Amino acid sequence: MRLLDALVNARLRWTAITNRRDLAPRRDDRRIPVRVVGRRIEAHDNDVVSLRFAAVDGRALPAWRPGAHLDLELPSGRLRQYSLCGDPADTRTYRIAVRRIPDGDGGSAETHRAVEVGTTLFVRGPRNAFPFAVPGYGSPATRLRFVAGGIGITPILPMMRLAHSLRVDWTMLYTGRSRDALPFLDEVAGFGDRVTVRTDDRDGLPTGAELLRGVGPDTAVYCCGPAPMVGVIGAAVRGMPGVELHSERFSAPPIVNGTPFEVELARGGEVLAVPADRSVLDVLLAQRPDQPYSCRQGFCRTCKVRVLAGAPDHRDTVLTPAERAAGDLLACVSRCAGERLVLDL
Ligand code: FES
Repeated sequence: MRLLDALVNARLRWTAITNRRDLAPRRDDRRIPVRVVGRRIEAHDNDVVSLRFAAVDGRALPAWRPGAHLDLELPSGRLRQYSLCGDPADTRTYRIAVRRIPDGDGGSAETHRAVEVGTTLFVRGPRNAFPFAVPGYGSPATRLRFVAGGIGITPILPMMRLAHSLRVDWTMLYTGRSRDALPFLDEVAGFGDRVTVRTDDRDGLPTGAELLRGVGPDTAVYCCGPAPMVGVIGAAVRGMPGVELHSERFSAPPIVNGTPFEVELARGGEVLAVPADRSVLDVLLAQRPDQPYSCRQGFCRTCKVRVLAGAPDHRDTVLTPAERAAGDLLACVSRCAGERLVLDL
């Protein structure tokens, strides 16, 4: 099954390979003290706020490229990741945008509630898990299609600006529940008829054919949004020879070919069952709600644990062979190739 998936997904793997190349040498845990210098409501439903950060010492901030994100340390100590959606040429400020998720894990609610102009906090990065290769400048594609779902517009905005400034042939489809829920509509409108806005309340849930209407061979598709939308696009692209897909999703990827196993917490002595469809991190959080995590997708390292015994099945994209040999394991995605892992917890 895995071999078949690999063959079917041959065009899709390009993204993962690129991600690995972009992430592996760029481990960057710099903590930068920043101050909030701008705060703005960006959607009519009032549930999306943009924040601008400047370095507390007034220095230029580390450079970034479209697709990059920041790790944001919230006042409570939570670590959350947000795509940079400002202008990479602006070396004095970073901009992110956050949608409030009422029934989420508390990170977005805290950002809305506790982060105001003047607040100081730390950021780490930027890092890029969604690298953008422009046709003619490192990509064999000849045109681009962007698809953004709601707050998924954030990494797409800098990509659109760069494609536009380089006069690349591009189009964009922006989708969401309703126009009131879509942030940055004014900025997007500035690109004219290259952008199509469609919403579920008026047009119903989008199909893959609709999201990719007009996409032909030699097109690179960049999409970011809810997991169902990204899944629909992935399924559609599999039937479109010559189309590349690069995607970023909001949630953990589905567990593929998972098998049940156990984790033993060496210091506490507990033995926890990890079902085939749940991650080690999920199981740890149920037992220890303070267990740190952030991306849940195997690239930020926040959930790293140390394996004392057992055979890990590493499914991350960032740990080096030396780190794996030392026993590091990313609990949000990696699993066990045997029956039990003993963790240094
Ligand atoms: S939470 Fe980011 S790598 Fe696991």
